[in-house]
This record gives sequence, structure tokens and C-alpha cells, in this order.
Amino acid sequence: MDKLVISGGRPGRGEITISGSKNAALPIMAASLLTEEGLRLRNVPDLADIRSMKSLLAQHGVVIEPVVSDGSEDAGAFDFTVARITSTTAPYDIVRKMRASVLVLGPLLAREGQASVSLPGGCAIGTRPIDLHLTGFERLGAKIELRDGYVYAAAPNGLTGSEIVFPSISVGATENLMMAASLAAGETQLINAAREPEVVDLAHCLKAMGAEIEGAGTDRIRIRGKARLHGGEHRIIPDRIEAGTYAMAAAITDGELELLDARASDLLFVIETLESCGVSVTPTNRGLHVKRANGRLCATDIETQEFPGFPTDLQAQFMALMTTAEGVSTIEERIFENRFMHVPELARMGAQIITEGACATVTGCEKLRGAPVMATDLRASVSLVLAGLVADGQTELNRVYHLDRGYERLEEKLGACGAEIERVPA
Ligand code: EPU
Repeated sequence: MDKLVISGGRPGRGEITISGSKNAALPIMAASLLTEEGLRLRNVPDLADIRSMKSLLAQHGVVIEPVVSDGSEDAGAFDFTVARITSTTAPYDIVRKMRASVLVLGPLLAREGQASVSLPGGCAIGTRPIDLHLTGFERLGAKIELRDGYVYAAAPNGLTGSEIVFPSISVGATENLMMAASLAAGETQLINAAREPEVVDLAHCLKAMGAEIEGAGTDRIRIRGKARLHGGEHRIIPDRIEAGTYAMAAAITDGELELLDARASDLLFVIETLESCGVSVTPTNRGLHVKRANGRLCATDIETQEFPGFPTDLQAQFMALMTTAEGVSTIEERIFENRFMHVPELARMGAQIITEGACATVTGCEKLRGAPVMATDLRASVSLVLAGLVADGQTELNRVYHLDRGYERLEEKLGACGAEIERVPA
């Protein structure tokens, strides 16, 4: 397995272009299953999870071709066309690698009247059940059976619109139901829906395909189902989590970065939090400019929440930032029950962190020390990169494949801003 070797202590200075959002691209790619016409997507990031989704879609019959203009391929632009669905089963081998595979269930069920998806199983950050997806499909008239490790969903006469009240907020369930309801007969209301920018981006794409959707971005989404959707074109939004991660890279190294294409509107609470730690984040005409306002960072408390609150996907990175801040910070993880795997690894680098249940107390220290570390989750891994960038000496990050799932060319982007970071192939 590849590893990253980081020599800490260099401030990150320069510009980083933010890639297309992984978590917006994954459901939007699955939405291509809803029509027999072509869907052209732009700004699709080149990541391991995106490649897994491409292989899953290919085995459902989706033909994926790079867009070529003037004789060369447009980076990140692909045509997804599925004239005929060749399989309605998402097999264990792909689902176990990437939980977002469950997002094909809604589109397949809506278009073909049946679908089966392997149950995703355990996950490094929590149990992550899919009950909210399944009860939602039942409300649309589907019969759901769990057998041999698979979910079998059937609606031979099609889905029927309904009111779905989510007992708790789920990004994936909101997306899956919004896709399915786009082809259901009549109107569906999703109540207590997720408000994440990725949900809004999916709604924009579905609307470009002819869907009628109102209220995406609020907790009540109304979808008037159509007999069919058509092809369309859509550009994936920039990745707010990648942008937030590099904002913290600028802050932790006492550097100065301009994050090209980053959108302040997707990061309002994160920006407010960074500002209260002594980081200045200023919108520019190209994105966001980030640097420390003055001197050392100061500790601030956070708790993770659904959008527009502080995102769980930036909790580990923020904890890395707090390890070198002045004072004591309390970090509460309220979305996933087991998302502190970075804590013992950060501690090996000298961080002072005590956890109690869903709460971590971080006492800032003057200096972290480089060490060999590893993590079992994408965001935990990148938090160790941030710590490595500021630590004394060398940090060796193992299991880099977690990073490759969600950060496009990370070592190249940071390296171009002065970081000493090298990938050592296995
Ligand atoms: N949940 C249930 N039942 C369900 C669905 C969710 O109990 O049927 C629980 C989950 O276990 C969790 C909470 O509800 O405790 C929120 O889960 P949600 O469904 O919102 O998460 P998700 O859709 O599975 C997406 C992102 C995650 C991100 C979360 C929360 C994608 C592909 N993944 O997951 O991203 O952390 O929303 O914002 O969009 C990552 O990129 O590193 C990542 C994990």
C-alpha cells in the first residue's frame, strides 16, 4: 500500500483549485439511471469512490464516455447513457467498498419496478443503517424484503407519490427518495429533509432532466412525479469539504491560501468558526482567501450538526487544528457514533485529547511531533495530514487509499503550495 511522507513546518502559500464535490457527484451519477437519454456531467472529480460508482453503473448498463472537444478530452466531463438497464442488482463486491452504492436503489426501483442492493454492512465511523431509505420506499408503495444480505425492493406497478416524514435527518435517504419520487405517480413531500448543498445540487440536476422539484435546501421538498425524465447537462458544485480542509491547512501551517472556486455560501458556519479561532476567511472574485488574522490560533468549541451546522466531515480536520491552538476546545460529534479514530493517532503525535463518549476535549500544545500514523477513514486520514504539515520532523501516513477515496491529487495540490509531501508507492 502507498504511503505519504510529510516533513512538517512549512507554511502553505499559494492557490489550490477545489475539485468537484464527491458527495454531490455520487448521487448525481446514480441519477443517470433515471432516463434512457444521455446525462452530461461536468466537474466530476477523479477519485476512488467515483471510479467505484462508475463500475457499479457500468454493470447496470450505463455507458460512460469522456466528453471530447477539439480532439481532446474535457477534464472531468462525462456522458452517462443507459439505453437499457442490464442488471437491477448492486452486488456485495462493489457495495462493501462504497456505501453510497445504495443510491442506485431509488433510481433502479423507479425506472424498472424492482432493484436489489447488497446491505452495506458495518462501517469505520458507525453502524450507518439504511432504514430511513427503506421505509421511505415503502411509503411510495414498494415492497421491501431483506434476504441473504440483500435488500429486495419491488414496485411492479410503479411507485406512487406520498408524504414521507423522516424521523431523523439523512442526506442519503433524502437523495434516494428525491430520485425515486421524480418518476413516481403524483406528488411526494419529503418532510424533515436534509438541507445539504449536495441535496440542492442533485435537485438542480434532476430539474435539468425535467423533474419538478421545489424546496430543495429547506426541510420540506415537494416533488411532482413525471412519467419519464429526459437527458440533460449539469456541472457538479465544488467540494465544500475539500475547501474546508485546505482552509484549515492554511490556518494550521500559518500560511496563506486562495481556494479557487470555493463557495462561502456552502461554508458559512465553518467560516464563522474559523474566524472565532483567529483565522481570516475572505471571499475573492475567484474563491476564498484564508490566512491567520494574527498570531496563534485560539481554541473554540464545536458540535457537528446537519447543514447549515458544522459538518461532521470536517470534524477530524478541525480537531487537528485545535491540537495546536491556545486553550481548551470541546468537540462533540453528533452525527456518527464512532468518528474519533483520529484521536489516538493524533495523540501519538503529541496531541492532548481526552474523549468521553461523543465528546473530545483538546488542550492545545506548542508543537506536534511527526510519527508513523494511519487511519481507517477518509476524513481521519486527512486530519493526520494536517497535523503532519505542522509537526516537527517526519510523519508517515499509511493506508493512503482512504485519502484517495475523497481527495483529488492531494499531495500535488499541497506540494505546489510549498508543503514537503511525497507519495511512496508500495
Ligand atoms: N442514518 C440512519 N438510518 C438511515 C440513514 C442514516 O440511522 O437510513 C443515520 C446514520 O447512521 C448517521 C446519520 O443518520 O448517524 C446521518 O447519516 P446520513 O444518511 O445523513 O449520511 P450518508 O448519506 O450516509 C452522507 C455523506 C457522508 C457524510 C454524511 C453526513 C455521501 C456519499 N456521504 O452520508 O460523507 O458524513 O452524509 O453529512 O454523501 C465522507 O464524505 O467522508 C462521508 C462520510
